[in-house]
Amino acid sequence: MILELSNPSVCMKDPDRVQEVLQSMVKAGSNTLQVISDFDMTLTRFEFNGKRCPTCHNILDNSILISADCKQKLKGLLDTYYPIEIDSSRSVEEKLPLMVEWWTKAHELLVEQKIRKDRLSVAVRESDAMLREGYQLFFDHLHQHSIPLLIFSAGIGDILEEVIRQAGVFHPNVNVFSNYMDFDESGVLTAFKGELIHIYNKREGALLNTGHFQELRTRPNVLLMGDSLGDLNMADGVQDMENILKVGFLNDKVEERKQSYLDAYDIVLIKDETLEVPNALLHYLTGSQ
Ligand code: TMP
Ligand code: MG
Repeated sequence: MILELSNPSVCMKDPDRVQEVLQSMVKAGSNTLQVISDFDMTLTRFEFNGKRCPTCHNILDNSILISADCKQKLKGLLDTYYPIEIDSSRSVEEKLPLMVEWWTKAHELLVEQKIRKDRLSVAVRESDAMLREGYQLFFDHLHQHSIPLLIFSAGIGDILEEVIRQAGVFHPNVNVFSNYMDFDESGVLTAFKGELIHIYNKREGALLNTGHFQELRTRPNVLLMGDSLGDLNMADGVQDMENILKVGFLNDKVEERKQSYLDAYDIVLIKDETLEVPNALLHYLTGSQ
């Protein structure tokens, strides 16, 4: 039905169910569709030419806005907590407090750096941030078809927005739900706003963000995209959901995590740095093939 689903990067536990969901979604029409996507390592690349690409946090960590001493501390946190994030031998219950610890410590360090709002765009411009191949088509296609895109990220909203703004794809159909920085009158970072979003509380975030989902009540069909098992809950605020198709990028520790991804995501994309499959799904769902 969709040629790209035969790509070597694609794995599906139940291809028949994928077909059924897609058929049911296409029948309902693209005016009933919304897309909910994670940002870091889902819309952005995991690696390029053998080198890891930065997350929103890493964009700041590696920038000239951060002192050498602080860089070292942030790197220490990354080296400690990232292996825990992707450790499939630990339960979510075990990992959750450690993830809160990571985010809390990282944000405290960033706040100490007196980062200026007007320097964020330079930090992003000079970074190695890269959206996945095919991003232009992805964002433009959703915009052209007036399909709302919610980017739900445990990264940093200000940075994420700047990445998509500089890429020229921050279209009006895009909404961002993320951790936003709070600045004082002189534009210096003083704190992060509101409830912390980390990788394992996206469900709570989704339920708190019901205002957004309320507006989208007439769009009960969801294409969800993520790279972490915590991303599976991003659509929990959608009421009266009819169909959901979950696409998961499996970037790292493939063998250990493959089975749990296959159990949780309808379509698993293994070490696929492109948006080719999501784009093909969208083409199918909007009848533009
Ligand atoms: P997300 O992909 O769910 O939006 O999560 C954000 C990612 O950011 C997650 O994979 C961990 C990563 N991260 C960093 O790279 N550095 C940090 O300091 C923190 C707190 C998170
Ligand atoms: Mg992610």
